[in-house]
Amino acid sequence: MTDTQAVRSMLVGIGAYLPANVVSNTRLEAMVDTTDAWIRERTGITQRAIAAPLETTASLGAEAGRRALADAGMAPEDVELIVCATATPDQTFPATAALIQARLGIPVCIAFDVQAVCTGFVYAMAVADSMMKAGQARTALVIGAETFSRILDWSDRTTCVLFGDGAGAAVLRAVPESEAGGRGVLAHALRADGRQAGILHVRGGPSSGGGTGKLAMQGQAVFKQAVTNISEAIEAACARAGIAVADVDWFVPHQANRRILDGVARRLAIPEDKVVVTVDRHGNTSAASVPLAFAAARADGRIKPGDLVLLEAMGGGLTWGATLVRV
Ligand code: UT7
Repeated sequence: MTDTQAVRSMLVGIGAYLPANVVSNTRLEAMVDTTDAWIRERTGITQRAIAAPLETTASLGAEAGRRALADAGMAPEDVELIVCATATPDQTFPATAALIQARLGIPVCIAFDVQAVCTGFVYAMAVADSMMKAGQARTALVIGAETFSRILDWSDRTTCVLFGDGAGAAVLRAVPESEAGGRGVLAHALRADGRQAGILHVRGGPSSGGGTGKLAMQGQAVFKQAVTNISEAIEAACARAGIAVADVDWFVPHQANRRILDGVARRLAIPEDKVVVTVDRHGNTSAASVPLAFAAARADGRIKPGDLVLLEAMGGGLTWGATLVRV
């Protein structure tokens, strides 16, 4: 295979890791003025996993990456590109991707982070796919890893009940287009609107002072745009691939709120049983939620080789987007 040959990025492995510590809604009732009933009705969430004190985004991401490589039957030496989507890096620098590289014993390669908050994994897939098509790498490890528990204000009931920690990873392998058999990453639609940065943000960071900061969200303002934005991105990715939305086998959405998943399904006439839902068990794990949901539907036998899978997300930025893959 030469650098200039047309290639497809095939999804050849998937892995997931969730911290062992599972926190139920009932346990949150003891911490803030909330109820299990409110959380279930307004979001669909029943529990979330929370990282142990010594677990970090890099440790969660490395474990998901290790599992994805094992699933692909590949060794650390095979990886030529690591893209880690995270909004909760271990350190200001180096990139969490480089920390994961060291943890997994991956030799010198390309490694960097992508910051698109909850849309991070969708962005990272597009970046990795584009670099592989440009001949920069033949095997990529694409990771979504987060420890949002570390940036939550645990006294703010409007946000702290929504999020969880976790990591998911995918292995992409470049193959000549002529050998792909129609499989691989088919199309992306990526969007951002920085004018809306203020409705979902963490006010903090190295350049603005004041430490790391805590997450703040105007939930209703985000909610109002979610169904429209996500639906548009799904339609755009499908149109770019020349595929009808109705021909997609599985929708693997970012898991922010069950009502958003239902709203998108209604708007695009997607049957409920084609939508992978993990928000009940995982909560909102930001960039990790799409690969975690993908891994769950692969593990239970729903997503099978040859299926057409649509990944979508929306998050801080605002950012949103969709990726279409035939697995
Ligand atoms: O992943 C990134 C993208 N993020 C999203 O997509 C999140 C989008 N937004 C949402 O999912 C929803 O807006 C939320 C789940 C965050 C909130 O649901 P909502 O139906 O929009 O509720 P609300 O903010 O309008 O609040 C309704 C009421 C308020 O009380 P009053 O003012 O009506 O008396 C809140 O104070 O619910 C109250 N409330 C709570 N009550 C019990 C807010 N949080 C809680 C809580 N427990 N945890």
